[in-house]
Amino acid sequence: MTETAPESTAWWTRAVVYQIYPRSFADSNGDGVGDLGGIRSKLDHLAELGVDVIWLSPIYRSPQADNGYDISDYEDIDPLFGTLAEFDLLLAEVHERGMKLVMDLVVNHTSDEHPWFVESRSSRDNPKRDWYIWRDGKDGAEPNGWTSAFSGPAWDLDPQTGQYYLHLFAAKQPDLNWQNPEVRDAVFAMMNRWLDRGVDGFRMDVINFIAKTESELVGTSIRPTMGPQIHDYLQEMHRRVFAGRDAELITVGEMPGVTVDDAGLFTGADRKELDMVFQFEHVGLDHSEASKFDNLPFDLVALKRSLARWQTGLASTGWNSLYFGNHDQPRSVSRFGDDGRYRYESATLLATILHLHRGTPYIYQGDEIGMTNAGFTAIEQYEDIESVNHYAEVVAAGADPATVLEQLAFRSRDNARTPVQWTPGAEAGFTTGHPWIEVTGNADRINVETDRAAGDRSIFDYYRRLIALRHELPVVALGEFALLEPEHPTLYAFTRTRGDDRLLVVGNWSGEPLDLPAGVTADAGEHLIGNYTEWNDTTLEPWEVRVYRR
Ligand code: GLC
Repeated sequence: MTETAPESTAWWTRAVVYQIYPRSFADSNGDGVGDLGGIRSKLDHLAELGVDVIWLSPIYRSPQADNGYDISDYEDIDPLFGTLAEFDLLLAEVHERGMKLVMDLVVNHTSDEHPWFVESRSSRDNPKRDWYIWRDGKDGAEPNGWTSAFSGPAWDLDPQTGQYYLHLFAAKQPDLNWQNPEVRDAVFAMMNRWLDRGVDGFRMDVINFIAKTESELVGTSIRPTMGPQIHDYLQEMHRRVFAGRDAELITVGEMPGVTVDDAGLFTGADRKELDMVFQFEHVGLDHSEASKFDNLPFDLVALKRSLARWQTGLASTGWNSLYFGNHDQPRSVSRFGDDGRYRYESATLLATILHLHRGTPYIYQGDEIGMTNAGFTAIEQYEDIESVNHYAEVVAAGADPATVLEQLAFRSRDNARTPVQWTPGAEAGFTTGHPWIEVTGNADRINVETDRAAGDRSIFDYYRRLIALRHELPVVALGEFALLEPEHPTLYAFTRTRGDDRLLVVGNWSGEPLDLPAGVTADAGEHLIGNYTEWNDTTLEPWEVRVYRR
């Protein structure tokens, strides 16, 4: 595929997306939970940052068992966040500022309180029975051995009808049966209504999980594999929802376990499935296969190898999305960088490395000021269903509570869910009330107000310049990627090339000074951006990153 192909000239190749986790972003009514009014009050912050697209984690009506990823009404806004009228205002204000708004689409499962499921569970012959995945037990136990992502079996026995329903996540998140054409009709109609309302696309929650392998549902498999019909479902979705208006939209599928070969199929321009996917390979390298709470030492060589494979694998067909953090991951500066002495340097290094890859970068709220992990030390501080269930399960099985707390302090999703730190004042300026989850203890030092006044040590300002580069330079958006010095344990170096235009990125992923291997910066060209105000071409200071252009 050449660079004039529609795929590589799509507007989102030049775009940067900003993720808002609404309950933790900004609270306008003092109830301690972020809301649409709060988002509206901060749109200038995002416009000044220069992002093109805002993705909102779910704001639909929900019992909030998984903070909105358990939806009971796809057609309405949860009163916690506001109203449909307020949503329309928000959308208009986003569009006025030249940005787009993407909704989260959670259709692998609904809430158990969704009227569809209430009907489905009411009797075996209810017309909606087959909208969910019901099976008989096997020898007095679950139909198969799958476990829920949030601990325990992935099946719950419903006493009223004597069958089990499948929930890959919490028991309050029953999985929809995508094999049933009525389910697909209902989902596609709902998506069309949101697009007609003016939203600019969807981030699709665990969308590769919608295709179950029939034989596995009652077989002996221990973990689901993606059913082959996934491509049919996504192509049908494209035909029935996006066709005719896809050029202005953006679609990104969250796909745990997806391989680079799969991703080429999902995102190939000619296949009409998705624009890009969130893959998990690079965020799975520092924990074991068996448990995401089992931390392994960080290995830069493995990270480079993985990201480079994706860069190469999707170079001629397909497209990457780029992220180091989101609402399911720890804070990137705490995980990959140094959130103490070199917080400014490592936060800006991570941003530079990520944004200079080929793909669409995603910024998670608070990363633009280098927010850190939460620093929680007691289980009572955690709200996340995954963390709370995990703690209960493994402690009951004999694990040492202190060890589990240490693992959570590093790995829990709540690390990224504490309120955005806007000011050094009370509750970090997030709310005038009592926040639903504790504010991180460093908010007096790390907050938007302080960062934006920090001159040449403002992380926000650095992000702003980085985002502008993608808008201005086609080589940032489209240039071919080549990794340099792949085996170097602390140097992250690569080039991006488009015609005569070449960028060289060199980053020191460590707190020790680094002598650059001979020749790396020879003929490097002009200094384009970097996180030190003075530099020399042969060494890198701790966490120093530099981009050259020739
Ligand atoms: C996705 C979401 C996560 C949620 C899960 C179940 O992974 O990002 O927050 O808990 O799906 O919907």
